[in-house]
Amino acid sequence: MKVFNGLNKFFNYNFIVFLLLFISIPDVKGEINGNKKIINGTELYDTNGHVINAHGGGFLKIGNYYYWVGENRKNGVFVSCYRSTDLINWEFRGDLLTRQSHPELDKANIERPKVIYNDKTKQFVMWMHYEYGRDYSYARAAVAYSSDIEKPFTFLKNFRPFGNMSRDCTLFKDTDSVAYFISSARENYDMCVYKLTDDYLDAKEYITTLWPGGHREAPALLKRDKYYFMMTSGCTGWEPNQAKYAYAKSIIGPWSELINIGDSTTFNSQSTFILPIEGKTKTSYLYVGDRWDGKKYFNSTYIFLPIEFTNDTSMKLNWTDKISPDMTTGELVK
Ligand code: DGJ
Repeated sequence: MKVFNGLNKFFNYNFIVFLLLFISIPDVKGEINGNKKIINGTELYDTNGHVINAHGGGFLKIGNYYYWVGENRKNGVFVSCYRSTDLINWEFRGDLLTRQSHPELDKANIERPKVIYNDKTKQFVMWMHYEYGRDYSYARAAVAYSSDIEKPFTFLKNFRPFGNMSRDCTLFKDTDSVAYFISSARENYDMCVYKLTDDYLDAKEYITTLWPGGHREAPALLKRDKYYFMMTSGCTGWEPNQAKYAYAKSIIGPWSELINIGDSTTFNSQSTFILPIEGKTKTSYLYVGDRWDGKKYFNSTYIFLPIEFTNDTSMKLNWTDKISPDMTTGELVK
């Protein structure tokens, strides 16, 4: 009995020490600063040595900083914010939306947050996919805003734009400052485009349904010279599939047919954003995708690949293990 009690104490003591260690050193990596490249498909660490949680995210350039806003999902946080001058070394700047931000977020699930800046209201406006509960049947959009991209956002509302279901989504602010919300509707069969109100806080106009019945999600847009490009994925849950793109001279359309890009699994990733990098020599476009682990969400990683244009309307995505953007020239060095 005495031996048994002794063993019990030993195990209890060691168990408590183990638990304390486990709780106090989460996700920290030894080597913190001075990264030189983005290594695709690996965990990325912020400048504090913590794993970057910003999936389904979007990017925004403010001064010399690129801001990365994306899904966090840890400890009741929905959306976190990081910033970087080189796209390699990211500083954590704060949590923008948490379960506590608003009663409507209490049991919510937030995906694919995107932020744009409204020059007139001086507000940062976030649109996102909003679910209530554990499944995807709510299928709504939600809007939040803040005067500081690094500070908590005020949650405004969740709704179905013009009564349409709304799941995977993105925001696009055009060069004339008119902004659009693009989202998968009708059980993901349709991709709907909406024009936003001048304050970006609501959908002012339903514009068009792209590829009705096409079953597309994960929209990401770019504008290059006279053409808009939209990349989307097929709908296979967390499993990757063949990305396609289309081009148009106006967001309103007509859009081209869908054209395959990358390989049959988009290099085991799904689009979330296309980031333009304006350098002195050229403007490059960086594809940002999530390499999801549907079983263990926090094992998901990120993929950054250069988009190459072969003519005005043809774009290509090729694999590279690593990438190092030259922020001065705009070159994406592999
Ligand atoms: C694919 C979407 O793009 C993701 O954001 C997420 O909603 C998963 N489906 C869920 O299966």
